Amino acid sequence: MEHTLTILGSGYTAKFLLPLAQHRYTQVFATSRDPDRHLTHVRRDQRIRFDLMQPETWQAIPPSTDIIWCFPAVPVESVRQFADAASLHTRRVVVLGSTSAYDDCAPTEYPPPWVDEEAPTDQEKPRVQGEELLRKYYNSIVLRVTGIYGPDRNPIEWIRTGRVNRSRKYVNLIHVEDLASSCLAALRHATTSAVYNIGDGTPRTWLEICQVVEQRWGIQSTDSQKADPTGKRVLNRKMCELLKLDGTGLRHSDLFEALDLIQRNPLNEATPSR
Ligand SMILES: NC(=O)c1ccc[n+]([C@@H]2O[C@H](COP(=O)([O-])OP(=O)(O)OC[C@H]3O[C@@H](n4cnc5c(N)ncnc54)[C@H](OP(=O)(O)O)[C@@H]3O)[C@@H](O)[C@H]2O)c1
Repeated sequence: MEHTLTILGSGYTAKFLLPLAQHRYTQVFATSRDPDRHLTHVRRDQRIRFDLMQPETWQAIPPSTDIIWCFPAVPVESVRQFADAASLHTRRVVVLGSTSAYDDCAPTEYPPPWVDEEAPTDQEKPRVQGEELLRKYYNSIVLRVTGIYGPDRNPIEWIRTGRVNRSRKYVNLIHVEDLASSCLAALRHATTSAVYNIGDGTPRTWLEICQVVEQRWGIQSTDSQKADPTGKRVLNRKMCELLKLDGTGLRHSDLFEALDLIQRNPLNEATPSR
């Protein structure tokens, strides 16, 4: 068993991460800016009040702990001050970033090119600046995460409610359980200061997803009225190697099988994957 893990920012991903991490760490803490309201599902002795914008809360983070940072690392000056105060360079830290960090490809390139971890990023984005600061100067591992789905974050509902519609835009997704496993695998096996894309490795257009959802679940969708961007296609080779080192692999490599499971068991929250 490893020692202590602190999940900084406990929203959707943390709900799945916490039960999984408890198999690996002797103690797991979850933080919130308002733990009494937002962490009622977490044991009282595991809750920590932490707000990046309130330095007086920083000392509540245990002195020796691995960290998974689950909210955007902004503003950069607060990130820097917290990283110094908490000596982050001495710890194993995994930061959840986003594949929106990658520059958009030219709209004429279709299908869009594959994107690996070496692709250029948009350094103007504050979140990218925060992540790069943590990676370069504090040895953090950055996971660039694609769209997260799972129980209660169901793409079928996004289609049903018109939040997404038929378009040629490519989308890359990751099931929250695979994201949680990847976070733990990264803490144990990732190279210091490395970047890993986190996705299921099968980019699809919204048109394809909408068509299958209509065939299988009878949910209608509409055509997009906008000139949609082409999206990107995210490679996940490094992530798959990481999961292999951890003795596991992608649990939900097929989006439609995963959606089927969610539809049949919509309340199945936070099932530990092993
Ligand atoms: N959703 C997606 O499809 C997607 C795609 C790519 C990347 N990501 C990234 O992946 C990460 C995890 O996503 P998620 O959907 O699990 O996030 P989430 O549900 O929003 O959870 C993050 C939690 O962090 C806490 N938080 C926010 N700002 C904070 C601050 N300044 N100081 C301290 N705590 C703060 C909030 O909880 P309290 O209000 O209780 O403090 C929030 O619920 C995020 O960084 C997200 O941007 C998400």
